[in-house]
Amino acid sequence: MSGFDFDMPVDRTGTASVKWDRYGGRDVLPLWVADMDFRAPPAVADALARRATHGVFGYTHAPDSLVEAILAYARDRYDWDIDRRWLVYLPGAVPALNAACRLIDPAARVVTTTPIYPPFLSAAGHMAREAARVPMAVDASGYQRLDVDALDAAFADAGRLFFLCNPYNPGGRVFGRDELESLAQAVLRHDTLVVSDELHADLVLEPGRRHRPFAALYDDVAARTITLLAPSKTFNLAGLGFAFAVIPDPALRKRFRAAIDGILPYVNLLGYTAAEAAYRHGAEWHAALLAYLRGNRDRVTGALARLPGVRAVPPEGTYLYWMDMRGTGLEDPARHLEEHGVGLSNGADFGAPGFVRLNFACPRSTLDAALERMGEALSR
Ligand SMILES: Cc1ncc(COP(=O)(O)O)c(C=O)c1O
Repeated sequence: MSGFDFDMPVDRTGTASVKWDRYGGRDVLPLWVADMDFRAPPAVADALARRATHGVFGYTHAPDSLVEAILAYARDRYDWDIDRRWLVYLPGAVPALNAACRLIDPAARVVTTTPIYPPFLSAAGHMAREAARVPMAVDASGYQRLDVDALDAAFADAGRLFFLCNPYNPGGRVFGRDELESLAQAVLRHDTLVVSDELHADLVLEPGRRHRPFAALYDDVAARTITLLAPSKTFNLAGLGFAFAVIPDPALRKRFRAAIDGILPYVNLLGYTAAEAAYRHGAEWHAALLAYLRGNRDRVTGALARLPGVRAVPPEGTYLYWMDMRGTGLEDPARHLEEHGVGLSNGADFGAPGFVRLNFACPRSTLDAALERMGEALSR
């Protein structure tokens, strides 16, 4: 039993929550967008209150103490030695994905796997680049795998930039060393640039799995990779707008800085404050969170086994459960479930109609109520 009470519901009404306001007063439990219904570690709120009390909120750079906390975090959690010069601070990961498209020639292609978190799909179009979509492979037990042969072919066919998502959203795969190494071989063969979005790195739930930063595989992989990291998913800080890129290669870093210069806003100073407090003081809360999320994941697994027509495998990481509802015969499962009081993400937005994604980062009472409603919705 930890000292943190994730069972206690926190009322988010009246806080302009994107997640909760979507259904405007209707009785729909919102288990969609990727934020959690939990309070951040207490040290974060304390640090923000202290900073707010100071009362002067001028332009702010990344504090040295935050930089030290990030270097320690990468070393301790991922055995990854980062140099402080490699860091570029960002107001979010999605703007960085978009900006990275500017690094390749307008005639070249941005390669993404599908299904994928929707901003991966829209970035190339925003930046007037062509997109190439490579479906994930699915093995006999239903686990997604990178289809490295198909990716290799896409890189050969003008695919100059690849968006890797690891852990994978949606589906929650935490890619193993073998898979990442064979991807690395394809990347090196074609000299492809990689943006590796690793925002869910700290949310590995499966005992025995561990997150490996793609850039930490080899120096020549690091030289072509922009890694995106943030405390936003781990510590529930998404509304504070803070992320960072790790770009070891000086020339690539210079080009990336030029691509964002004057377009991306500076990081909000409260984002720096919260990030530092979370990295420095959030370890105990984080361990308790993972235990709670594991319990919730297993609860969903148990409930899904009783739902007709639903196929899913437990996510190895993330708090997002990806479900194939095509066996239910419903034309639009997300809409059907919403009509029965459960608000999930629609797989169509990820490039997979007939699928839905459930966010289980909520108190168990909310999750149980949602699972019960799903049972009723699918038994009619
Ligand atoms: C893989 C992934 N990348 C990026 C984001 C959003 O990042 P940000 O809020 O920093 O733009 C999310 C949010 O769900 C995500 O799942």
